[in-house]
Amino acid sequence: MLWLLLLTLPCLGGSASGNPEPGAGREQVGIVGGCDVSARRYPWQVSLRFYSMKEGTWEHICGGSLIHPEWVLTAAHCLGPEELEACAFRVQVGQLRLYEDDQQTKVAEILRHPQYNESLSAPGGADIALLKLEAPVPLSELIHPVSLPPASLDVPSGKTCWVTGWGDIGHGEPLPWPLRLREAKVKVRSNVICNHIYCRRFPSNTTERSEQVIKGGMLCAGDGNHGPCPGDAGGPLVCRWNCTWVQVGVVSWGTSCGHGDFPGVYARVMSYMSWIRQHVPPFPRAAGGPRDGGDPASRVDTLRPSPVPA
Ligand SMILES: *[C@@H]1O[C@H](CO)[C@@H](O)[C@H](O)[C@H]1NC(C)=O
Ligand SMILES: *[C@@H]1O[C@H](CO)[C@@H](O)[C@H](O)[C@H]1NC(C)=O
Ligand SMILES: *[C@@H]1O[C@H](CO)[C@@H](O)[C@H](O)[C@H]1NC(C)=O
Repeated sequence: MLWLLLLTLPCLGGSASGNPEPGAGREQVGIVGGCDVSARRYPWQVSLRFYSMKEGTWEHICGGSLIHPEWVLTAAHCLGPEELEACAFRVQVGQLRLYEDDQQTKVAEILRHPQYNESLSAPGGADIALLKLEAPVPLSELIHPVSLPPASLDVPSGKTCWVTGWGDIGHGEPLPWPLRLREAKVKVRSNVICNHIYCRRFPSNTTERSEQVIKGGMLCAGDGNHGPCPGDAGGPLVCRWNCTWVQVGVVSWGTSCGHGDFPGVYARVMSYMSWIRQHVPPFPRAAGGPRDGGDPASRVDTLRPSPVPA
């Protein structure tokens, strides 16, 4: 059950100890096979924070995305257990280097998707949540919401998309100083193939052949060498259509982070658009995103940790 172990790591606070602290700082997920991000490429990227009694600071526990000046999209499992209230969390917008010039925004309200099942956590599906901010964040070149897809959007397999986060950069390898946001280029995989990959790897007689490990509300992308590790959870997977960046996934779970050919598994944003629209008013077009000047792909193919200053 390697995968469940890995999964529980970012399943902050899922611990039975009664200590609701999500993530202990070392157990977050990061981008494997990625590269550093230049300024203004992902102005919707958010760092979700949780107060660490031990450190006395608001620690990064997950990613998220700004989808409206007043709303952040993230993964439900980042916010567990359910008893945790909005005041336990804050978000940091507009940051490239984690913790640099911190100015967090308070969270006013947490909306976990009603179908999210805390005991099943991310693999149970509907691993998606909304955070209403205490006040709209001021928009700028560095801070801007990402576009959301129409519910009907079909993301073809093979489509090249991008995932970003401050998580580990390999198995047990934390993001090095200066804690710069990283991106990885990943290709979308079909649910059928993704389901085969996961079922083949974890055969069990309790898993019926017909059982869907990869459910309809999930989306797979990448492989073991390119994609999110636990810590990038909640962060966005974005693809480009018609010169606009659209968020199609929320980092949810996976086994990869440098191990084998396992696609990362995301909450499929299209499947949850009607729920999102019940709460979040549409926001006009997104700006920013990976800049022109060619496909940045050539820069992200290798696992190349940023140099650590001596
Ligand atoms: C969550 O999943 C568990 C395990 O399958 C199940 O027993 C429980 O009824 C589910 N809870 C809800 C609210 O559906
Ligand atoms: C799984 O089922 C097959 C056939 O029913 C049986 O031979 C095998 O021992 C089972 N394996 C386990 C691990 O239970
Ligand atoms: C992109 O533009 C074309 C032509 O206007 C349109 O048919 C298509 O639906 C658009 N795609 C998306 C994802 O918006």
